[in-house]
Amino acid sequence: MRGPRPWTFIHVTDMQPGSPRSFRYNPAWAENWETARRQIIERRPEFLLVGGDVSRDGSIHRWELEEMKASLEAMEIPYRVIPGNMDTGNKHTRRQGPFPERDDVSLNITSEQLLQFESVFGPSRWTFIHRNVRVSGLCDMVLGSGLTEEARTWEWLNRQQTAKRAEHHFWLIHYPLFIDRLDEPRFAITRRETYYEWYFCLDQDSRDRLLATFKATGATRVVSGHVHCRMEHVADGIHFDLAPATCGSQWTGHWAEGDGTPGFLEYLVDGDRIAKRFVPLDRVSTRTDGYGPGGHPRPEQRDYSLAWKR
Ligand SMILES: [Fe+2]
Repeated sequence: MRGPRPWTFIHVTDMQPGSPRSFRYNPAWAENWETARRQIIERRPEFLLVGGDVSRDGSIHRWELEEMKASLEAMEIPYRVIPGNMDTGNKHTRRQGPFPERDDVSLNITSEQLLQFESVFGPSRWTFIHRNVRVSGLCDMVLGSGLTEEARTWEWLNRQQTAKRAEHHFWLIHYPLFIDRLDEPRFAITRRETYYEWYFCLDQDSRDRLLATFKATGATRVVSGHVHCRMEHVADGIHFDLAPATCGSQWTGHWAEGDGTPGFLEYLVDGDRIAKRFVPLDRVSTRTDGYGPGGHPRPEQRDYSLAWKR
């Protein structure tokens, strides 16, 4: 007897199209999101998962979040979104990094920024079952922050341990749980040699506690964004998919197998099997006519007189 027909869902992340009303704008990233968006609509997934950094500066411009929400709604595909650090602020640090031009402590996620995101997209932690797959997502930037939202997130995570199980359980987070190994130590933000390892994954204490919770919920796959370099690890029987960005690539030199090609991930579910497929963008924008600083500029470096639109 034949089982149900295979079906697909898609994970897309790190679109950060930005806005020509902002102090900085890269139209190539906006064009790449439009390309990805068209390709996703054509592939007709049963639902769409969005892994954060849906905006370039949504933590300070609510309108960037609203514009992405309108863009997602118009796709007419059921979707769920978790925030990324560009939408709500970074994971917390009490110490500054080694680069004088970057004020890391000021970039910490705040309750106000998270509430702003939730006022546009709804709750930042959610779980649902679709056919034989459970998908759960959360705002991992609050872990280790000491904010009231962190305590609520752990309470919610604990409750997931007794939730009804499905055949597969996907977890969505924005920062990867780890860089190379599950048991790697906490990276020092203060040292230039380890700053990017610190920046690109969760801290060890958050990671250990989160992983224990994931395992207690029957996690089969953990999908993250943030790095803009596609990579896969398998550890403790769980797949860890580091998803590609649509905007462009970053940090492509760290892993020999890492691939920075812009695109998104499509999951094909066939009974109890899941196959992952990388879908590259049909066309990567070559525009170079943007403006403004990259990275995480300080407030005094934000010059809105550069904006193309007012
Ligand atoms: Fe990010």
